Amino acid sequence: MAIFMSAGEAANLIKSGDTVGISGFVGMGHPEELSKAVEKRFLETGEPRDLMLTFGASQNDGKSNWGLNRWAKEGLLKKVVSGHWGLQPDMIKMAVANKIEAYNLPQGVMMHLYRAIAGKKPGIVTHVGLKTFVDPRETCGRLNSISHDEYVRLMEIDGKEYLFYKSFPIDVAIVRGTSADEKGNISIEKEGISLEFLALALAARGSGGKVIVQVERVVQSGTLHPMMVKVPGVAVDAVVVARPENHWQIPMATPFNPSLCGVTRVPLNSVAPLPLNERKVICRRAAMELVPDAVVNMGIGMPEGVGVVSAEESMSHIMTMTVEPGVVGGVPMGGLYFGTAVNPEAMIDHPNMFDFYDGGGLDLAILGMAEMDRFGNVNVSKFGPRIAGAGGFINITQSAKKVIFCGHMTAGGFKAEVRDGKLHILQEGKIKKMVRKVEHITFSGDYGRTSGQTFMYVTERAVFELGPEGVTLVEIAPGVDLENDVFAQMEFRPLISPHLKEMDERIFHEKTPMGIKDEILSKKNVVQGA
Ligand SMILES: CC(C)(COP(=O)(O)OP(=O)(O)OC[C@H]1O[C@@H](n2cnc3c(N)ncnc32)[C@H](O)[C@@H]1OP(=O)(O)O)[C@@H](O)C(=O)NCCC(=O)NCCS
Repeated sequence: MAIFMSAGEAANLIKSGDTVGISGFVGMGHPEELSKAVEKRFLETGEPRDLMLTFGASQNDGKSNWGLNRWAKEGLLKKVVSGHWGLQPDMIKMAVANKIEAYNLPQGVMMHLYRAIAGKKPGIVTHVGLKTFVDPRETCGRLNSISHDEYVRLMEIDGKEYLFYKSFPIDVAIVRGTSADEKGNISIEKEGISLEFLALALAARGSGGKVIVQVERVVQSGTLHPMMVKVPGVAVDAVVVARPENHWQIPMATPFNPSLCGVTRVPLNSVAPLPLNERKVICRRAAMELVPDAVVNMGIGMPEGVGVVSAEESMSHIMTMTVEPGVVGGVPMGGLYFGTAVNPEAMIDHPNMFDFYDGGGLDLAILGMAEMDRFGNVNVSKFGPRIAGAGGFINITQSAKKVIFCGHMTAGGFKAEVRDGKLHILQEGKIKKMVRKVEHITFSGDYGRTSGQTFMYVTERAVFELGPEGVTLVEIAPGVDLENDVFAQMEFRPLISPHLKEMDERIFHEKTPMGIKDEILSKKNVVQGA
């Protein structure tokens, strides 16, 4: 039976050397009051020490001290095993400086591992990750030179290659909910997404560990409809009622936005249009690949803008957008809200969403791109001093029927203007993103060429496809010189399509909407074979 206690008392349940699993996704679902209590205890007493921390996605805004950044302390952490890294700056610094062991596994694999751990299974077997950096023939998911554990093994079943990801016990799970009844049953009606609250709690339970839940309020037993209970009280050891300031739905953004969790619906014409710049050019070009009735995922970073463009073009309703922590339908949100959608149609758990994705449920995915190379490989996980981590990228790129990678052609100081129907490059970035060989293989071109999927690479000045013979240039922007602005900015020479053409001029004009809705509506959803 759950015991109600203060955050300080709950923090004392963590012992040095424990493995702690924590829920959350960017701004949602992070138990901030408990993170504060653990940080305070460590700073005051030096305890607990040498923890292994595990989580599915980053939980921070990339710059401030809240969320998982509070755990980034020398001595507090020994090891981190996670699906995504990019938003905890201090934790990234510790990994880069070899101050902690650091591993990155695909986010969907992390979610499915929690379920395996819950049921005392040795691990999971999947195709997800083959030929990417998590494959033991590459780096086995290790992010620095002090990381030597083997979480991933290559195996064969009936002559086919798979990866085996090994389970690990979770001593303490810290998750979040909205209401707890007197027996510790937890509901999540005001959370923006349903996340991995249940899977992670059960993983700790299956490991013989402790489950701590941070909630907003206590309600009388019997108040919560059984269908509303996300984590049953029999799987909860401790409940902490948080102070309101530590239980915002999205910290630093909103205490509570009812349109994220189905309480209200907002009119969609309230979405502000994007300014016309080279980022919008990429989003617009990617949006032209949308097809009616498609099930779509739009990733973190630039692809967040594709949802806005589709709203500008009044076409949000023609497809169903999804986000990997479990949101189906509505309009996906960006920035700290990333992972939520306004006016969602359905919420499923994070591990279930990856069942749907891995099972081929996505028609189209639009994702970021930090580097790409002559083999068609894409890197978003580790570049220069940055560790972004793969997040859902590996699961999604190895399962969606069509994938569009979006990114600039150069980084680090790139400046351009978009006017008069043309792209005007004012200053090239110092870093070329189209390289001979990517530093980290987050998407394997080799895998993609034989998977039966379709892949495109969209930049502000050129569009490429992955063909059987390799990376092929298919479009260039109006106003751009092929030799100087495209080839000279690449470390490899792509194939050139015999049908090379200019990108649609409407993309480069101020006029919004650019008027693509009817064309898109008249397309057949070939990815669905409709
Ligand atoms: C890779 C990723 C960081 C790109 O983000 P983005 O916003 O689309 O692209 P940007 O061009 O603005 O790049 C972000 C930053 O990385 C820098 N960058 C991009 N490519 C780079 C490269 N090859 N080398 C060095 N820096 C690079 C940019 O200059 C920018 O720097 P700034 O923050 O100082 O301005 C982002 O897509 C990501 O985190 N991906 C991993 C997770 C993921 O894709 N999951 C999929 C499902 S959500």
